[in-house]
Order: sequence, then C-alpha cells, then structure tokens
Amino acid sequence: MKILDGKKVSNDIKEEIAVEVSQMKERGEKVPHLAAVLVGNDGASLTYVGSKVRSCEKIGFESTLIHLPEDTSEESLLSKVEELNENPEIDGYIVQLPLPKHIDEQKVLMAVDPDKDVDGFHPVNFGKMALDMEAFIPATPFGIMEILKRYKVDTEGKHVVVIGRSHIVGRPISILMSQKGEAANCTVTLTHSRTKDIKELTLQADIIVSALGVPKFLKADMVKEGTVIIDVGITRVPDDSKPKGYYITGDVDFEAVSPKASFITPVPGGVGPMTIAMLLKNTLLARARHRS
Ligand code: GUN
Repeated sequence: MKILDGKKVSNDIKEEIAVEVSQMKERGEKVPHLAAVLVGNDGASLTYVGSKVRSCEKIGFESTLIHLPEDTSEESLLSKVEELNENPEIDGYIVQLPLPKHIDEQKVLMAVDPDKDVDGFHPVNFGKMALDMEAFIPATPFGIMEILKRYKVDTEGKHVVVIGRSHIVGRPISILMSQKGEAANCTVTLTHSRTKDIKELTLQADIIVSALGVPKFLKADMVKEGTVIIDVGITRVPDDSKPKGYYITGDVDFEAVSPKASFITPVPGGVGPMTIAMLLKNTLLARARHRS
C-alpha cells in the first residue's frame, strides 16, 4: 500500500508556481491576483478561504479577500461579482460555496466572467471541459488527476467507480477520467444515492473516487485487493475531547481499507491540499491567458 501524499505534491506544485512568479517579477511583469468572496461565517468556509489567501501570499500572488455579512442581498453580491469582472487587476476569483439560502447560487455562478472563473463552475467552462476544449477545470477533480499523474498510477482501461454526483467533484471527475489522456482512458461508473447496490459496483472497481461526505462510508468488505482509493470526503465530526471541538474524517474507513489498497489518499493530507494547489495553478493560467 502506498500513500498518495497530497500535502507533499501540493507543496511541490506551489514551489513550481513560486519559481514562475519570481521569474515574472524579475521581468517586471504583473503577478497573478486571486480574489475570494466569502458571504457569512460558515466555519469550514472561513478555514478554506483563509488557507487559499495564505497560500497566495506564500507563493507571491496578490490576493484579495472580500468578506461580506451573512445578510448580504443577492443584488449586492451580484454587483460585487460585476465589479470583479470589470477590475483589470483581478485575474481570477472564486465565490466560496455554500452561499446563504436566500441567495440563488446558480444565478451568482452564471454572473462570473468565464475568463476569470478559476473554480471552473461556470457552464461555459464546464461545457468546454466536457467537450475536451481548453477550460478551467474545477480544482478538486483537477487535483485528483494531477496526483494520479505524479504518482504514475496506471489508469489505462481501468474501471473507476465514482461515489457521488456533485457538480463540484463527482460529475466532473467522471467526465475527466473517461476522456482520452494521462490519468484517464478509464471506464467510469457514476454512483449516487439512488444507485441500487453500490457495494456490488465498488467490488468491481480498480479505482474508487468517493465524494459523498459520509464519514467512513467505504468499508473493507466493499473493495477488492489492489484497488486505488481516492477519498474526497472531508467531514467535521463534533468531539469535545479535541482542541477544536471536532475532528476531520474522510468517506473511507482508512484503517480497515488501506491494507487492501494499492494506493490511497489520507484525510487530512490527501485531496484537500491538492485542491488549493490547483486553484493557484488555474490562477496562474488565468494570468497567462489575460496577457496573451
Ligand atoms: N466549497 C467547497 N468546495 C469549494 C470549491 O472548490 N470552491 C468554492 N468556491 N467553494 C467550495
């Protein structure tokens, strides 16, 4: 069993980007500038956005955090999005999800300029991705593809079972892994809450990508020997004995499943750090596209 060390790989990617940024500075060029919009005070979102901004600082990007109150109206959020679209200083930005219930998430994502949509959530980017055209790929599936590539995991002709059909992870990773190319050329089965017998399918999988958000959902009796396991779940489980009052766990019962796996991503330290690295990569790409 080999650990797919997302923390290490994401640090490698960040170092590679930092080198490019310092070369940009030497040439007197503008460095990439990422903005993040956060509405409200959701604990996990505050952590993620804080981590994205700190990573920008570390690698030499400009960053701007726009923190709006929970009761921000849809109209004023849309006008903030419009401002970001028009601001030539900003190369890319994200609107952190989930948004408060009174705001129509789809309407907001549709308002983002696809050329600045470094989350890859706009239908133009999603459509281009599905059609094998150049596009911003959502950071989490992009990170999964990258970690598989860097560890040279053989995906050619393999059967991938994806668990979860979210727009952010399950749906896009099922498209990407079925496409032609490195870390791809797979046969994909996309399972979800209405799938009749998930275990019957996971037992046939060479690679399992679990993006469900149910702690320890994937048990040892659901996987065959030698399976590659990608755990996208990050759930905060309340626990008063922990310093933060919770602990983080994935979708996979790691202790029981890992001895059967050929490769496995841990939680934390697997897919999570990769997501941030790929968001930075998308922002670097956005800067390059705006320059040309
Ligand atoms: N919420 C959970 N994951 C993500 C992400 O990748 N981007 C944004 N904007 N919000 C999220």
